[in-house]
Amino acid sequence: MAKVQSSFFCQNCGAQSTKWVGKCSSCEQWNTFVEEVVHKDKEAGKHWRKGKKIRESKAILLDEVNYKAEDRMVTPDKEFNRVLGGGIVAGSVVLIGGEPGIGKSTLLLQIALNFNKGKVLYISGEESEGQVKMRAERIKSNGSTCYILTETVTQSMFRHINEVDPDLLIIDSIQTLQSGYIDSTPGSISQIRECAGELLQYAKESGTPVFMIGHITKDGNIAGPKILEHMVDTVLQFEGDRNHIYRILRTTKNRFGSTSEIGIYEMQGSGLREVTNPSEILVSQREEQLSGIGISSAIEGQRPLLIETQALVSTAVYGNPQRTSNGYDTKRLNMLLAVLEKKAGLKMSMQDVFVNIAGGLRIEDPAIDLGVIASMVSSFYDIPVNSQTCFIGEIGLSGEIRAVTRIDQRISEAIKLGYETIYLSKYNTGIDKIKSDKCTMIKVGKIDEVLHFLFA
Ligand code: TYD
Ligand code: MG
Repeated sequence: MAKVQSSFFCQNCGAQSTKWVGKCSSCEQWNTFVEEVVHKDKEAGKHWRKGKKIRESKAILLDEVNYKAEDRMVTPDKEFNRVLGGGIVAGSVVLIGGEPGIGKSTLLLQIALNFNKGKVLYISGEESEGQVKMRAERIKSNGSTCYILTETVTQSMFRHINEVDPDLLIIDSIQTLQSGYIDSTPGSISQIRECAGELLQYAKESGTPVFMIGHITKDGNIAGPKILEHMVDTVLQFEGDRNHIYRILRTTKNRFGSTSEIGIYEMQGSGLREVTNPSEILVSQREEQLSGIGISSAIEGQRPLLIETQALVSTAVYGNPQRTSNGYDTKRLNMLLAVLEKKAGLKMSMQDVFVNIAGGLRIEDPAIDLGVIASMVSSFYDIPVNSQTCFIGEIGLSGEIRAVTRIDQRISEAIKLGYETIYLSKYNTGIDKIKSDKCTMIKVGKIDEVLHFLFA
């Protein structure tokens, strides 16, 4: 009888140890080691090669490498292409994480059904063929060649992959896969690592792009070893509020493009719809003027977006005032409050402050500082800011309004959406070229000047 081999794995980072240890030496977490039965065959990871032509590897000069921009497969989904950095790269492995029910399976099935560059194989370990078909009927398709397979054991999965020889492989999800070479249960650290390794090898040697869906843990990270994220080329997060209809696809790692791109989708009865004009949905439409609202023109990735900040400032009932923010950095919020207190003389230290970026977005662009300040001061005085006003500017520690990048793009977006007044830094140059007879631009240098214009 073969000797049973087992090893201990850290459930947090995937580190391996031959004996149990209380504290993981690599991620320093306590009590995370769990024993998993491992039995690795020497042939592991090689089985899929049988009968398939694989690329020989040899060292060549970088100058001789053939690379064309067209090597990216451009899908009909523009948001998806943008997030990937311009399309799917041959042989790349992409991991998509997100909360249960957010729409990961829907997104990838939709990509599969609209794929126009060849055959797609969708392998589902979570749903039966019937269930996938039911979902596919809801989604509009343009008649692509999509094969569906329900299989969880990688050895037989690769047999089918060799038969179909797809141009795109989709795995739903990596946590349901199981390799026969490892004896531990699906979803365990060693299984995820082994299965991902086999898929990675397949992708690199056959040149077929692989998309894998990954579950996330309760604190929002992709379940499984941290090395899973190191192994793959691109990590995407599909996020949003399950109770809201908007979803955001965000890149957290991308070897082939920028990580600041986002894709915005709307979940409809018939699948996900691309939102090509996000500013219109991110700013709420309303009849009456309300206090505590400031609109800013931000840049996310390559796109200008108009962002609505909502603030509520009210006298603290308990000793310690609360500062809560959704979608905006709390440290930065505290800094803005300190600047308001010191440079504009507003007594913010006894106020509870709640800040929310509408639409569930998380914005890191400092150019929205001025808009955040406007919303907070508007709520403090309970005086609305004119709803046709837009703010662009970063706030410095001494209360100065600093210049921001790509000002012309930000201004054009605000003008396009009909804003009549734009507040911006007087240190931003080159804006005199922008001509608009309907829009007034007010250049300001210090925070108290803005407040004087708005609330005096
Ligand atoms: P799903 O893709 O199963 O989520 P995940 O794979 O991330 O767990 O998404 C399921 C949700 O999406 C479910 O609540 C129903 C909803 N949905 C729609 O609203 N419209 C649709 O066309 C489809 C297919 C799903
Ligand atoms: Mg799913």
